[in-house]
Amino acid sequence: MIFYFSGCGNSKYVAETIAAGLNDNLTFIPEAAREGRYDYTLAEGERLGFVFPVYSWAPPKLVLDFVKKLNIKVGPSTGSGTLPYIYFACTCGDNCGLTEKVFRKAVEEKGWSLSACFSVQMPETYIGMAGFKLDTPENAQLKIDRANDLLKRNITRLINKEHFSEMVVGSLAWLKTYLVNPGFNRSATDDSKYLSTEACIHCGKCVETCPLKNITLEEGRPKWHGHCTMCMSCYHHCPVNAIQYGKATAGKGQYYFGRR
Ligand SMILES: Cc1cc2nc3c(=O)[nH]c(=O)nc-3n(C[C@H](O)[C@H](O)[C@H](O)COP(=O)(O)O)c2cc1C
Ligand code: SF4
Ligand code: SF4
Repeated sequence: MIFYFSGCGNSKYVAETIAAGLNDNLTFIPEAAREGRYDYTLAEGERLGFVFPVYSWAPPKLVLDFVKKLNIKVGPSTGSGTLPYIYFACTCGDNCGLTEKVFRKAVEEKGWSLSACFSVQMPETYIGMAGFKLDTPENAQLKIDRANDLLKRNITRLINKEHFSEMVVGSLAWLKTYLVNPGFNRSATDDSKYLSTEACIHCGKCVETCPLKNITLEEGRPKWHGHCTMCMSCYHHCPVNAIQYGKATAGKGQYYFGRR
């Protein structure tokens, strides 16, 4: 059983690759949360996996909120008992800070324990502030090629239920995760800087690709409704680049996994 979140497709690709390798099934966290699906039963010996992007050097808040509400039973008739093998894979543009520590704590607060985790560097998606830019197409492809090698190796370790941690932590990790991240979480739902320009062709792609269903079309133009997670999917998927985030995104280009 794999629970995943993805805005721009990187983590979806990683989740699908792991699911194929483990012959496992996938649940999209925002959909399950929307429908109030928090109760699950793991078969005897079944792995419990989570896949998500790193947001501001920690797991996205919506992922942590989901974990908090999850109610997992082990085996068809048992309400407790054997702890399952639990792992996470997170995707990041560069590094993850103390994402492992934060997720481990969330898992332990449920009385579970984390068996394995690894990070996968994938193309950058965050360009909502000055100084943040996308990877060149060559760099993006290089990251994906390396990710495929890393996934192959780590899927074998998950099959064997190895205990391991392979995270790219980066510099000033404590500061980024415990001082910068709370500020990001406070502002992440604020979508008031998103706008659409006259280039909009009213296609509705932004509505369709928002994982939180935070956008509607009003007179053919997107309207944001204030429960954003800042995944930037709406910006990246617009076929005519008509969405901007204030002035921060001007001229920075677009990316989503599989975009040609
Ligand atoms: C709001 C936001 C915050 C991000 N923060 C980080 C970060 O702290 N460290 C990092 O290396 N990448 C960061 N990234 C980049 C993403 O983690 C990375 O591109 C990821 O693969 C995107 O996954 P997705 O395509 O499944 O949404 C951030 C991206 C977004 C949109
Ligand atoms: S995806 Fe772009 S063009 Fe399509 S409705 Fe949204 S803003 Fe307009
Ligand atoms: S409004 Fe845009 S940035 Fe916010 S959650 Fe939806 S797609 Fe992501």
